[in-house]
Amino acid sequence: MGISHHRSDRDYVLGTHDAEIERLGFQHAVWRDEVLAAWGGAGIGRGSRVLDVGAGPGFATLDLAEIVGDVGEVVAVERSTRFLELLKGEAQARGHRNIRTAELDLMHDPLPPPSVGAGFDAAWCRWVACFVPDPGLLARRMAEALRPGGTAVFHEYHEYATYRILPVRAEITAFVEAVFETWRAQGGEPNIARVLPRLLVDAGLEIVSVRPLARAARPGEELWNWPAGFVRVNTPRLVEIGARTVAWGESVLKAVDEAERDPASVFITPTVLEIVARKI
Ligand SMILES: C[S@@+](CC[C@H](N)C(=O)[O-])C[C@H]1O[C@@H](n2cnc3c(N)ncnc32)[C@H](O)[C@@H]1O
Repeated sequence: MGISHHRSDRDYVLGTHDAEIERLGFQHAVWRDEVLAAWGGAGIGRGSRVLDVGAGPGFATLDLAEIVGDVGEVVAVERSTRFLELLKGEAQARGHRNIRTAELDLMHDPLPPPSVGAGFDAAWCRWVACFVPDPGLLARRMAEALRPGGTAVFHEYHEYATYRILPVRAEITAFVEAVFETWRAQGGEPNIARVLPRLLVDAGLEIVSVRPLARAARPGEELWNWPAGFVRVNTPRLVEIGARTVAWGESVLKAVDEAERDPASVFITPTVLEIVARKI
């Protein structure tokens, strides 16, 4: 069977189901302050034309739409029909007429231009480069979509294996190993930020800044539910896609429950690298 041009929603390793959408919304909320700082530093403001690359259900898109205002524009590109339908509904409900969406596969389709001007002022890409089989192509497409002087902002992992629980629990370590295995099996690379600066420079951008984002959370803190929540949502998904057994899944979920009840527990998050690059 050939690879279809637009893959079905089911093909994406993390899925597009309701629990994943809820997780993406929570994830955006706990990272929002860092994201707003990154966008501000990159000059995204009122009137900016911004491309949201692999926008998912568009939690960042909606924030960007508020920031750029009516005189600006946000174009959300994404492969999942389901995610884009959600975004379109929410944009309409909130009265955002400055959001456009394009359903496309970043590996197969060109990126759309802004409705005004030769290229976007900025492109935002978070946790997407880690899923595409050819991140160099992604970097080149994003570079082409920007105007000269336009800025690309990435939040991608450079050290996913820092994702662990202290005191160490073998089940959580095994969960992280399953993530590495399944992303790589679909052509992705969790530690993609390690090569992004090289790929961006080769695509005609100059690196403006890099910043590691390393965090840790204890039970009861809001942030705890980011690493713990991913374990809880992705473990059934790993079983569903046949990567692991039901019994394995139960052991992982039990381990995260037990860790949550232990006041000594610390969840260390997978380390993100913020990369800001400018088109020359
Ligand atoms: C972890 S989600 C991140 C979504 C969003 N950027 C955010 O930060 O909330 C990864 C997204 O990349 C999209 N994606 C993965 N590969 C893609 C491709 N080849 N073309 C278009 N979208 C893709 C998925 O459908 C999913 O919405």
